[in-house]
Amino acid sequence: MYSLKELQQRISDIFQQEKFLATPTSLYEPIDYTLSLGGKRIRPLLLLASCQLFGGDIEQAKDAALGIETYHNFTLLHDDLMDQSPIRRGQPTVYRKWSPNTAILSGDAMISLAWRYFLRQPHPQLQSILNLFNETCIQITEGQQYDMDFEQRQDVTTAEYLDMIRLKTAVLLAGALKIGALYANASPTNQEYIYQYGIHLGLAFQLQDDLLDAYGDVSILGKQTGTDICDNKKTYLYLQALAAANPEQHNLLTQLYSTKPTDNSAKISQILDLYQQLGIKQSTEQVIEQEFNQALHYLQLIDTPDQNKEPLLNLGQKLLHRDS
Ligand code: IPE
Ligand code: IPE
Ligand code: MG
Ligand code: MG
Ligand code: MG
Repeated sequence: MYSLKELQQRISDIFQQEKFLATPTSLYEPIDYTLSLGGKRIRPLLLLASCQLFGGDIEQAKDAALGIETYHNFTLLHDDLMDQSPIRRGQPTVYRKWSPNTAILSGDAMISLAWRYFLRQPHPQLQSILNLFNETCIQITEGQQYDMDFEQRQDVTTAEYLDMIRLKTAVLLAGALKIGALYANASPTNQEYIYQYGIHLGLAFQLQDDLLDAYGDVSILGKQTGTDICDNKKTYLYLQALAAANPEQHNLLTQLYSTKPTDNSAKISQILDLYQQLGIKQSTEQVIEQEFNQALHYLQLIDTPDQNKEPLLNLGQKLLHRDS
């Protein structure tokens, strides 16, 4: 049994041993740059922790762990271009450091590199694993499109928002966990429970991401804050504020969110001021905790020895209090 720390170390070693540089350098350098910057690497962690939870051999799943993280990093290259985000992991984003075309093409290459990793080791469940991976990739594109469409819409509901973040974020966490379970030949019931655990963990994770975009510390977060407000993203914070606002506040919110000024500082501070008046930070923290508890409920339903669940329980605790 590996502890959470040991799993993290194993993942770090796996990435260190892998070569991402090749020619043409202009294609592969941005890939190496992105994957070497690391980030939290929670998706490969979930994949291996789930494999171990169900008694699987994590070495058999190691290439899938590489694959899922490479795919996640591809989504970031394109997402940063779509969201006009200047920094990630404390460094310039690929489209800023190189160019939008580089972010597109190096990102495209990363999709296929992810598939190459998945295909590198045979496994009796590989067909199901690849099928789940592919369906998950499709869902992420759907989620990302809703996210973009919602920027233009004024009538987004909380239910629509939750479905959007389920697609753009939660299914990849859930998919990583279920893929780990497939490598370990877990029972269909356990596969379903670990998937639901991942969905609720993922919803909490994206709600936190929204919260950190408004309240995070740039030097710890490694991303610019206030970008969701600049982009008129229909985040949970914004939708909660709309729902709680009096008519005057409601007008101000919708009016601010109908513009994209070149200097965003006044817009950001006015929106944050409204959030403050309406207690949005607290109400968002409450839903995050509810989603975490819902996730835990599914983890408890899984019939494996309690000690096997330790790394996932520890990870959950760490994520609940994350600031990056
Ligand atoms: C960022 O993912 C994109 C979201 C789905 C919120 P992470 O917060 O996992 O980013 P890294 O990989 O740790 O940098
Ligand atoms: C990202 O959501 C989801 C995906 C990359 C698929 P965000 O746009 O909120 O992620 P960050 O905040 O840029 O990391
Ligand atoms: Mg983004
Ligand atoms: Mg985005
Ligand atoms: Mg975000």
